[in-house]
Amino acid sequence: MNNPQTRRTFIGHTAIAGAALAAGPLFGAKVPTKGSTLKVALIGCGGRGNGALKDFAAACQILGMESKVVATADAFQNKASATGKNFGVPADKCFGGYDAYQKAIAEDCDFVLMATPPNFRPLHFEAAVEAGKHCFIEKPVAVDPVGARAVIATGEKAKAKGLAVVTGTQRRHSQGYLRNKAMIDAGAIGEIKGGVVQWNGTVPWVRYREDGQSDADYMANNWLNFYELSGDHIVEQHIHNIDVAVWFLGRLPVSALGFGGRARRVSGNQFDFFSVDLDFGDDVHINSQCRQISGTYGRVGEFFTGTEGSTTGGGKLSGKEVDIPDFKQDSDNGQIQEHVDMIRSIMNGEPLNDAKRIADVNLVAIMGRLSAYTGQLVRLADVTTNENSPFFNYSCGDPLDFEKGTVVMPKEEPPIPGEPWEDRRKKK
Ligand SMILES: NC(=O)c1ccc[n+]([C@@H]2O[C@H](COP(=O)([O-])OP(=O)(O)OC[C@H]3O[C@@H](n4cnc5c(N)ncnc54)[C@H](O)[C@@H]3O)[C@@H](O)[C@H]2O)c1
Repeated sequence: MNNPQTRRTFIGHTAIAGAALAAGPLFGAKVPTKGSTLKVALIGCGGRGNGALKDFAAACQILGMESKVVATADAFQNKASATGKNFGVPADKCFGGYDAYQKAIAEDCDFVLMATPPNFRPLHFEAAVEAGKHCFIEKPVAVDPVGARAVIATGEKAKAKGLAVVTGTQRRHSQGYLRNKAMIDAGAIGEIKGGVVQWNGTVPWVRYREDGQSDADYMANNWLNFYELSGDHIVEQHIHNIDVAVWFLGRLPVSALGFGGRARRVSGNQFDFFSVDLDFGDDVHINSQCRQISGTYGRVGEFFTGTEGSTTGGGKLSGKEVDIPDFKQDSDNGQIQEHVDMIRSIMNGEPLNDAKRIADVNLVAIMGRLSAYTGQLVRLADVTTNENSPFFNYSCGDPLDFEKGTVVMPKEEPPIPGEPWEDRRKKK
């Protein structure tokens, strides 16, 4: 059988789980109160990182607080500096480089927002929790089973320290989705028997290699096209829709069997389409479908058929009338509401902790990817409990290699299902 565990990775075989680092000095995480100023640091100063800072500030405003950005960190100094300038951060608190996260975390902040490529998330999350910070960790939180399980372990540490951990799965904080979930739980569509979840769109962007750019910098910049950094788009983007399936059904699938390929992608080594049967047991199947090909029909959403009705994710529901509580959100923007919910949960003394939930959903998306890459059936146990499975210790590489300067770039070619990866590489 194809064995992704034995293939050469671009950065060797060190498990992420062993990659804990000595974090900065410990600060007690502050409990926010009305009128207080919440100090925040950002790791990953791209589109979402800048957006998350604005969302955090908007949430503070809703709750009658101020936000102060005390540090920024990015692999690239110019990005850390540009974001810092926009948010009034002193120049010497804008850190560049692959170890910049350590410096930002060591600053006097209560919250750390993380929006780098997801392969770095387990490492950065662990460092922030070690340092006693509340964490907002963008989805996805890992690109391989080893990383996802590390996030679960770090989440437990966060729980023991009373730290909040919230992820950027904004559908879970959006009124329409919350209402439909409550209606499903109240029996409005009976028992869910099947459905489809989709993210069919275009390639978001390609960042071509610049003259003289190192392998590491090229990959960190063009990360959305390398599965070792992004997890491929089934993990990076489609995780939102898979999350809704897991949430609405209230359980994880037992296995994934899928296929995919690459028709038009011009950069990196990812696929550009997947179709995966997620078997949720009890004869319930959800088709998980995603595509990133320009010029094709676009549809993003979720649809479920129940024994007594049907529903889309956050929209129309047809079924029985049921009573559910009123939902009053502070913001109609889920990306702001998730920060409100995070801060409020700390104020209420019950910090939200999304780590296991998102890591589990992440594992489902990874199962789908591994099935499509290898052409094999992948069971949930293969990535969670069965240590004898070839998928169990599968790692896309050690993110610390970026700090050590030992990154070796893979070929910009996608995996071929049915062909053992190691053999294929030997042929080159
Ligand atoms: N919740 C959502 O709806 C949503 C939307 C967009 C993106 N995201 C997620 O946010 C994350 C970032 O996405 P983006 O669109 O902002 O990408 P981006 O490329 O715009 O930003 C990523 C930033 O991280 C930096 N970076 C790379 N490696 C780093 C490292 N080791 N240390 C520090 N910085 C590093 C890059 O230089 C870049 O500035 C991804 O996980 C993505 O999936 C979530």
